[in-house]
Amino acid sequence: MSAMSLNEHLAAARRVLAAADQEHVLAFWDQLDDGQRQVLLDQVDSVDWPELTRLVQSHVERKPAFKLPENLQPAPWYPYAPPAEMKGLYAKARLRGWELIQGGKVAAFTVAGGQGTRLGWNGPKGTFPATPIRRLPLFGCFAEYIRNMQKRTGAVIPWYIMTSPINDADTRQFFRDNRYFGLDPGSVMIFPQGMMPAVSLAPRNLGKVLLESPGRLALSPNGHGGSLKALWTSGAIADMKKRGIEQISYTQVDNPIVRVLDPIFIGLHDLDAAQMSSKMLPKREPLEKLGNFCLIDGKMTVIEYSDLPDTLAHERLTDGQLRFLAGSIAIHLIRVDFVEALNSQAGNSGDGFALPFHRAEKKVPYIDLKSGQPVTPDKPNAVKLETFVFDALPLCGKSIIYETSRPDEFAPIKNANAPGTQDCPKTSQDLQVARAARWLESQGVQVPRRVDGSVEAVIEISQNTAIYPEDLKGQPLPSAIEPRGQVLL
Ligand code: UTP
Repeated sequence: MSAMSLNEHLAAARRVLAAADQEHVLAFWDQLDDGQRQVLLDQVDSVDWPELTRLVQSHVERKPAFKLPENLQPAPWYPYAPPAEMKGLYAKARLRGWELIQGGKVAAFTVAGGQGTRLGWNGPKGTFPATPIRRLPLFGCFAEYIRNMQKRTGAVIPWYIMTSPINDADTRQFFRDNRYFGLDPGSVMIFPQGMMPAVSLAPRNLGKVLLESPGRLALSPNGHGGSLKALWTSGAIADMKKRGIEQISYTQVDNPIVRVLDPIFIGLHDLDAAQMSSKMLPKREPLEKLGNFCLIDGKMTVIEYSDLPDTLAHERLTDGQLRFLAGSIAIHLIRVDFVEALNSQAGNSGDGFALPFHRAEKKVPYIDLKSGQPVTPDKPNAVKLETFVFDALPLCGKSIIYETSRPDEFAPIKNANAPGTQDCPKTSQDLQVARAARWLESQGVQVPRRVDGSVEAVIEISQNTAIYPEDLKGQPLPSAIEPRGQVLL
């Protein structure tokens, strides 16, 4: 790029930054080389400054007040085990789900753009070794599930993976290094989500965008809600339409035993002509940290656990069951034409579409403007602005909820291992082993158990071998597993 165009670029950046009262972004301009200057100007271009100015007023200068809607009701759901009168419907739904997968109408979608700060793994979270024996990475677990589904249906199941500009290159390299885990690279599409700047909370600099280095904004991914826009702007939706995809099976990168595609859920969602649907788990306790599925004026809405008043969270029905029982585990089905409608309503480029932003107070390292020195804060010093995918639910005409089984489908890896910590690699592996043990016992295999019922062996069932316990029928299984043995199937 010529010096002239760099100057023009700089002049344009100065104008937008001045209008947004963020001119400090260029404080170290004189110290940057041309390459660094270009990177900084490109970053400036990537931010919607008028929107950021509005968000600074509404989400940084003050905390947005949350007002609990008056007419809040618990949302109904389809139970995991159907009552007698629903058995016919479930059989029909299961058939419908398989038909859609077989007909090539369903895509897998993994959101993997998060920073995984709690886990603290040096690399994209999807590359984390998740399984107890092979240490298969999370991406490998999903790939095996997809391969299994492709094998049994004969269909091509395209897999879309959302990264962020921070982990996109590493994710792509990881897939190349692992030869796409046996999948056709032509059916795996990796694309980055959008970013938002972190904004200072310090009274002296309130509302000012932080710099990560003299020539870079402190940008972070704009939340999993950014997926609904990134699916569109990346061309993923156009690609899906070309392939005849109708439904997107949305899952997170952190759960190695998630059913990447689940025929019964797909069928129920499709038969009800829902636009975006969700799986739920019955909460274990009133204040379990899961979002609550609610209806507000008939519209499906997730109320975050921190926003549901304790009195409501503790309310029980006459049979003792929690009134607000349905917890969200971020598994969704989304119609392709719903994502298309959301984005095209906002103009063809999709530029105007965004879900509501949420404020998160975080520790964000930054460059002090006066000294030019890096600062690592020891308490939250900044606001990150994120959107959440479940905020699209109230925009649906129709949305259903299907209950799933916690032991069969939920073994999340969120935190680093530490004594007493939940949702960490250790607890996830214990849950994976427990599921494998139950599946083997259902096929008559003897599994050694300790007095507390826990499994006294390490067992891993590859999802190439089985994604349902019935898949183990006819496989060469041991009749019993030795105490403290290791079994890989
Ligand atoms: P989490 O809320 O658990 O966040 O994301 P995280 O970034 O993985 O981890 P922490 O909070 O920094 O420890 C739930 C899912 O949403 C994805 C994550 O990759 C994960 O699959 N996600 C989150 C995105 O794709 N983009 C985002 O901006 C945020």
